[in-house]
Amino acid sequence: MADSTNGSAPLIRLEAVSKVFFTDEVETHALSGIDLEIRDGEYVAISGPSGCGKSTLLSILGLLDTPTEGLYRLNGESVENLKAKQRARIRNRQIGFIFQAFNLIGDLTVFENVDLPLTYRGMPASERKKSVEEALERVGMAHRMKHYPSQLSGGQQQRVAVARALGAARRRADRESRLEERGGRDGVAARCA
Ligand SMILES: Nc1ncnc2c1ncn2[C@@H]1O[C@H](COP(=O)(O)OP(=O)(O)OP(=O)(O)O)[C@@H](O)[C@H]1O
Ligand SMILES: [Mg+2]
Repeated sequence: MADSTNGSAPLIRLEAVSKVFFTDEVETHALSGIDLEIRDGEYVAISGPSGCGKSTLLSILGLLDTPTEGLYRLNGESVENLKAKQRARIRNRQIGFIFQAFNLIGDLTVFENVDLPLTYRGMPASERKKSVEEALERVGMAHRMKHYPSQLSGGQQQRVAVARALGAARRRADRESRLEERGGRDGVAARCA
């Protein structure tokens, strides 16, 4: 995995992380003993066959799920004992998600979809508008701001989802580390607080 290219602590560090899903019938070992270090500014792709655990890993890195065993340090801090509200705050402020199914909200316009996470942060409307427009410009979707997701092509929907993630990570976008999944096309963009 990632080389230690400078002396700073990794942005993301996993030690011996495992994830087991239990259902009535089977237990699935989705992740077994994963060690991973990612530094600020690194670009990392995770690839592998369907069902090998890519989305499970990204859910853990994005604080949407928790490991069954092992340690996850984000920005040098263990996330193990964070309360749901603290996890939600970190997700909202430090992590941008591009979901496999894009997860755009069908009855909101392109602008409103990108704006929504920023409203949760209590950002003033004028600043939000600037952030949303900038993020949409960066993915070449500013001209579709008033469209609804159903009025866009698959690739355009994906670009709006990228803009939504960029909006979340905007303030230090130049230093963002991005994790992307090749085959399944979901990903996480994280940045230093
Ligand atoms: N909530 C769950 N309950 C039970 N098993 C699950 C659950 N989520 C995932 N799994 C299983 O864990 C394994 C890893 O799933 P995961 O979604 O991480 O795969 P993936 O690598 O993202 O695959 P794909 O490329 O098809 O998206 C699979 O065998 C899947 O069936
Ligand atoms: Mg997947």
